[in-house]
Amino acid sequence: MAEYDYDVLVIGAGPGGYVAAIRAAQLGLKTACAESRDTLGGTCLNVGCIPSKALLHASEYFDAAANGAMKDMGIDVSPKLNLDQMHAQRRDAVDGLTKGIEFLFKKNKVDWKKGRATFQDAHTVKVGDETVTAKDIVIATGSSVTPLPGIEIDNDNHVVVDSTGALELPAVPKKMVVIGGGVIGLELGSVWRRLGAEVTCVEFLDEILPGMDGDVRKESRKIFKKQGIDFKLGTKVTGVEVKGKTATLTMEPSKGGDAETMDVDCVLVSIGRKPNTEGLGLEAIGLEPNERGQIETDHDFRTSVDSVWAIGDVIPGPMLAHKAEDEGIAVAENIAGQTGIVNHALIPSVVYTWPEIAGVGLTTEQAIEKMGGDKAAIKVGKFPMAANSRAKTNHEPDGFVKVIAEAETDRVLGVWAIASVAGTMIAQAAQAMEFGTTSEDIAYTCHAHPTHSEAIKEAAMAVQGKPIHM
Ligand code: FAD
Ligand code: NAI
Repeated sequence: MAEYDYDVLVIGAGPGGYVAAIRAAQLGLKTACAESRDTLGGTCLNVGCIPSKALLHASEYFDAAANGAMKDMGIDVSPKLNLDQMHAQRRDAVDGLTKGIEFLFKKNKVDWKKGRATFQDAHTVKVGDETVTAKDIVIATGSSVTPLPGIEIDNDNHVVVDSTGALELPAVPKKMVVIGGGVIGLELGSVWRRLGAEVTCVEFLDEILPGMDGDVRKESRKIFKKQGIDFKLGTKVTGVEVKGKTATLTMEPSKGGDAETMDVDCVLVSIGRKPNTEGLGLEAIGLEPNERGQIETDHDFRTSVDSVWAIGDVIPGPMLAHKAEDEGIAVAENIAGQTGIVNHALIPSVVYTWPEIAGVGLTTEQAIEKMGGDKAAIKVGKFPMAANSRAKTNHEPDGFVKVIAEAETDRVLGVWAIASVAGTMIAQAAQAMEFGTTSEDIAYTCHAHPTHSEAIKEAAMAVQGKPIHM
């Protein structure tokens, strides 16, 4: 072999990195992956998507039993929370899935280099005591929690925590504040609200879930409010003082005004995540992150340094596991001389609350902006879940589906949904849009009855003003 130890070295074994490594190996490239955690799978499998969904799923059952939803269906139960077991099944899920990646590495002959990787030059990386050389190197180091200046996170004390600490609370807090009405705040806030905490969400902006469709943001907040989450919008936290097991928050209107305080027993800081580039030795290869700390790449995921590529949360774009995975496949294919492409215009986003919130493509606001501000240049079809037979039968009346199409061509620009299974429903919209669908195409596609997905068909019919069941 050649002048290098490996054809490809991937730094980071999250959904971006481990997928890139497996695909590179599948394509016949000799591949290694450096990972400093004790387990593979990155943020997603260890402290992100998977453990949060494990708690969301379990707490959903508890909530349904405790808050009357089961009673409505003729099931009388008085649930008793066994939080230790709930955590145990979460850890089990993480354990099984992270070991699964280890198995896949072995099966595909990807070598795991255990330790922190630091660039020596563009083909050489130090991982712990070992020096590894590779023809191509992929940076997939992911992201970590953005701290709030002046507020110290101490996950071990369980009072001021980040998302990792909020997954591990040993008892249900009586009063909890989540700082940030984004995805993490709403998902983990929902978990602890369902299990009995009084939850207040403090959001800097005037509405939760920035980046999502305006209607969806407003309606979902109303639903969360009905479920018992309190919101303080347009509010910033200016300080948190911890005394023993109590935190006193000081907050004031974002635009300035009188401060108020609140005593709680848990504060979750969830105001975003930042790319991981510290300690990576980027200076050794002359690669400088942009002003947001991200590594810029071209369309093929090449950085400005020859033979160095980057994918996932560390590069611009939504910080989502499926985006990282698709980029992992594409970068490996590009390194192998094939054509790897990710359509960044069609990355679905899902909030796994009850009901779920999902969208793909443009929001109404973005679509109007794209049309030069001409509202008449788009058509919007909306269908309420309360009119969908399956959702109604299942006692799930909240939410709607919204299809946004270009008026002139009928081409679908965006689909948004609030529904119990919106995350699953949105896949059909993403696939149809990938093939350039019109709303008429969706409207004339036969959808099985009775399914929640019929609401997508009806919303598409509503674009032409002709839904049946409304
Ligand atoms: P990561 O998963 O962050 O992996 C990077 C890996 O690189 C890490 O394991 C890290 O240890 C390692 N690393 C970093 N630097 C080095 C180094 N120098 N040497 C060696 N190793 C290094 N996304 C979704 O799509 N759906 C969800 O439901 C979802 N839920 C989430 C819930 C929570 C609580 C959080 C925090 C995130 C969630 N996300 C979700 C986001 C998702 O986890 C990330 O978008 C995804 O993990 C990014 O993948 P990645 O491969 O880019 O990086
Ligand atoms: P986020 O970017 O989704 O939300 C952060 C929120 O905090 C925003 O609404 C922002 O306006 C607000 N904020 C910022 N500074 C503030 C301040 N000082 N005071 C009050 N509010 C403030 O970030 P979050 O929730 O931390 O999630 C990080 C990333 O993880 C997201 O990019 C998301 O994509 C990903 N993630 C994805 C999930 C999913 O796909 N279901 C689940 C969880 C996380």
